[in-house]
Amino acid sequence: MVSKAVAGQPIDLEPLRVILQERFRPRDHEEALELIVGACQEAQRLYGWVPPEAAELIADHLGVTINRVYGLLTFYADFRTRPPGRHFLWLCYGAACYVAGAHRLLELLRSRYRMDDQGDLPDGVLSVNVFNGCLGVCDLAPVGQLDHHEYVGGLDPDGLRGLIERLRREG
Ligand code: FES
Repeated sequence: MVSKAVAGQPIDLEPLRVILQERFRPRDHEEALELIVGACQEAQRLYGWVPPEAAELIADHLGVTINRVYGLLTFYADFRTRPPGRHFLWLCYGAACYVAGAHRLLELLRSRYRMDDQGDLPDGVLSVNVFNGCLGVCDLAPVGQLDHHEYVGGLDPDGLRGLIERLRREG
């Protein structure tokens, strides 16, 4: 990833432009869907989300309308059209974690912490994604993986509150 793009601040489109020119050649209509999805995945890998400037560049490059690009961005839940929070949590939703209460944590995130449909808390401190598999540390269930390296296990409502408070303190 180049760096997280911040909404409202200029982003460096050059890395995306190079990737588009090398690997995403405008072709016929049938292939456009695959190309748009692939190009948007590259943009999200580079910037952490798909900024409007990147979506416009992709549309221009592939010769499709911006509405077609946004149609796909909003159709696929994996794409982000807003910057992610400062921290990221994979919430494990495998069988052991589900039984241990992961679903209750998800409800709590939505109700008490007002997590929105993209998994973001309103103050931008945390983005949460459900991991529909097993993180491989079932003995810690229910567990989340924070910022792709730290396992946060035994998460109950108090533990979740403590985690969010800690992240807010750390900034
Ligand atoms: S089911 Fe969550 S770590 Fe295995």
